[in-house]
Amino acid sequence: MEIPALQAITIEILVDNFFDVFEPSRPGIVERVTPGRLPKPLVAAHGLAYLITLNHQGRLTRLLMDAANDPYPLFNNLEALGHRPEEIDAVVVSHGHPDHYGGLLGFLAKRLGPMPIYLHQDIFFPKLFMTPRGRLGPWELSAESLAEAGGRLQENRGPLVILDQVLLTGTVERSTGYEKSLPVFKRKLKDKEEQDPFTDEQALVALVEGRGLVVLGGCSHPGIVNMVKYAQKLTGVDQVALILGGFHLTAHGEDQIQATIQGLKEINPELIMAGHCTGFRALTKLAAAFPDNFMVSCVGTKVMVVGG
Ligand SMILES: [Fe+2]
Ligand SMILES: [Fe+2]
Repeated sequence: MEIPALQAITIEILVDNFFDVFEPSRPGIVERVTPGRLPKPLVAAHGLAYLITLNHQGRLTRLLMDAANDPYPLFNNLEALGHRPEEIDAVVVSHGHPDHYGGLLGFLAKRLGPMPIYLHQDIFFPKLFMTPRGRLGPWELSAESLAEAGGRLQENRGPLVILDQVLLTGTVERSTGYEKSLPVFKRKLKDKEEQDPFTDEQALVALVEGRGLVVLGGCSHPGIVNMVKYAQKLTGVDQVALILGGFHLTAHGEDQIQATIQGLKEINPELIMAGHCTGFRALTKLAAAFPDNFMVSCVGTKVMVVGG
């Protein structure tokens, strides 16, 4: 499946679980904000939102991938980083957990015109989460509410090239064997609850001229290695410039963390950046395993992959 080679992609981390003023930058590649220069403080939150700028032959397109857990961190950080909702051309929702769409209706309310929203058709099944402190949910993303608020829903099941520029993988093919779903995540089909197979989670994939793939995941519940391998298979491109997302790893335990690290080593990307639901323990192990090409995803970070 062919996707065009972009001249550049920039991802600004609007909302993520972390903020650490001591995390280093890499000039021209990864730039962190200087909090003292912002018009207002950034907030970290258990949620995810990326502001993505695609440069295709000089034409810029702005995507919002995920809309945080609540309008508050989304709008606070958009404003702190000098952006406005009107700049955004389209929205992608990675999967149906509320920490990825909690700010979406609030975002649509701030927009005057219709807004394309790309999502998997299985995203609308109610989701539940069994925690040691009890059962959470069900949460349900309502297609009707999104449409009433001005969302123009574009649903997919399989791979789909959007805006003639980037690929949504559709349901991720699971090839690794070791990246298993956790039984604590459930979804509801009619009145029946079942373990969530996360058919609704998809990666956003871009190809940058001379650099290779950029693979962005939300929570990466199907497994970040599965997601990257599937992106490679769909595009026929093996070279990977950047893997960014929540990797949801600590909760899966030591064996899966170590197998994932091995899988990422085999992919051999230029840069790995993880945050959100990855978990502190898994982050420390990734940092130790990739001393030169792992960074933590924090709010206010700008990641640039420029063709060359
Ligand atoms: Fe999440
Ligand atoms: Fe999730």
